[in-house]
Amino acid sequence: MLTAILIGFMGTGKTTVGNVLAINTQQQQIDLDDEIVSAAGKSIKQVFAEDGEAAFRQLETTVLKTAFKRNGILSTGGGVIESETNRAVLEATEIPIIFLKTLPTVILERLTGEDAAVRPLVGQLGPAGLTRLWKKREPLYESISDLTILTDELTPEEVSEKIETFLAQKSAVE
Ligand code: S3P
Repeated sequence: MLTAILIGFMGTGKTTVGNVLAINTQQQQIDLDDEIVSAAGKSIKQVFAEDGEAAFRQLETTVLKTAFKRNGILSTGGGVIESETNRAVLEATEIPIIFLKTLPTVILERLTGEDAAVRPLVGQLGPAGLTRLWKKREPLYESISDLTILTDELTPEEVSEKIETFLAQKSAVE
């Protein structure tokens, strides 16, 4: 079974934190973006360019549903909350959902030009568009999460520790 799902905007450290958390708790990490690349047989950039964002979102939904049958920590892509189906799936689950929240200024510093090569939306939207998207998505992440962690000033290890404490408290209560 999945033991935690990490959500949040691009550049909030979902994959990095998920990796630390997986190592610390001796579980495997499932990265939804990697699963999409495997399923599509091409890079995310290629899926966006050749098939369009809608096709990418459909694939994301399929891969999300499949991930629920697996064991470990699930790191999602920042746009997983765009689809109503995905939001319904995430709202319905009992698996703890952790929102890694990072303010746009910090995200924009992290998402450098290099990221445009792997994250199509970074290149397409630019700083103002990304900030608008962040504002639109922020309440959606909030509404489906069980824990929000402000990551601006934390290292991935510190974020992971907070998640581990939360998960331990939760399982002690249950
Ligand atoms: C996206 C985020 C990316 C990836 C794709 C679209 C988004 O994942 O799924 O480029 O819509 O925010 P990361 O959040 O891991 O960068």
